[in-house]
Amino acid sequence: MEQKTVVDFDIDRYMRNSKKVDLSHLDWEDIPNHELSDGDVMCMHYMMDIESHTVIYLRDLLATRAATDPYITAFLSCWVYEELWHGEAFSDFLRAYGIEEPIEPRLPDGSSPMPTRPNRLRRLRTDIGVGNGFAIVPSMVGSALTRNFIAIHMTWGAINELTTLTGYYQLIRRSSHPILHGMLQRVIQDERRHFAFYRAQAKARMQDNPAAGRIVRQALKSFWTPVGAGVKTQEETDALGLYLMGDGSEEGAEAARGIDETISALPGLEGLTLIQD
Ligand SMILES: [Fe+2]
Ligand SMILES: [Fe+2]
Repeated sequence: MEQKTVVDFDIDRYMRNSKKVDLSHLDWEDIPNHELSDGDVMCMHYMMDIESHTVIYLRDLLATRAATDPYITAFLSCWVYEELWHGEAFSDFLRAYGIEEPIEPRLPDGSSPMPTRPNRLRRLRTDIGVGNGFAIVPSMVGSALTRNFIAIHMTWGAINELTTLTGYYQLIRRSSHPILHGMLQRVIQDERRHFAFYRAQAKARMQDNPAAGRIVRQALKSFWTPVGAGVKTQEETDALGLYLMGDGSEEGAEAARGIDETISALPGLEGLTLIQD
């Protein structure tokens, strides 16, 4: 079915404004003077790894029919750049705090060349088999099987961006580090735009297209896993979820409900409760 509904997102404006997240207002020198809890550090490592992994996710997407849509590829080009800098932001913050494991290469003046965590990222990607080429097969097969594949991907992206930005709000709630708060607020602004794009695309593709809604619902029920699953271990994903939303607080529970409510407001996804399940 051809797409009939207007996509409610100004891609022209997004492209013209896309830039590396500006964190120059933060007092980087003051970072070690405030405490991060072990839970905060765990979350930041997770977030750093996932943000840095975005380019691999992009590779999988470009092997699908999503690559035929110039609006989507224009968005993805800016999006992957912004996500790269989110990964670097977490990396810089942790290093400024005094945490770098494994030890990474340094320039003679002691500074860290970009990208800042090559040892860590290489090990992570090797461990999960990124380089073997077969990782793109599920996306390719899914794309070949259904014309509505892009609707699945756009909805999937909307959920990932929404859980990410909700997770960042929850880390602000859990952490007492004032400079981390300032950094997360800036990153959240980017994630909000990412979410707006994916949601608008998903909505346009499922509006007046019940077949797309059905296949998206089925795909999510069968295959959806929290952002980072497959890159991080099950234990790490569970620990993150418990720390940010499953800590027994009313705010955490409300955040999880909020994600489900927002996603189930998409046409065809009424009543879906992925996060709470
Ligand atoms: Fe991000
Ligand atoms: Fe994002």
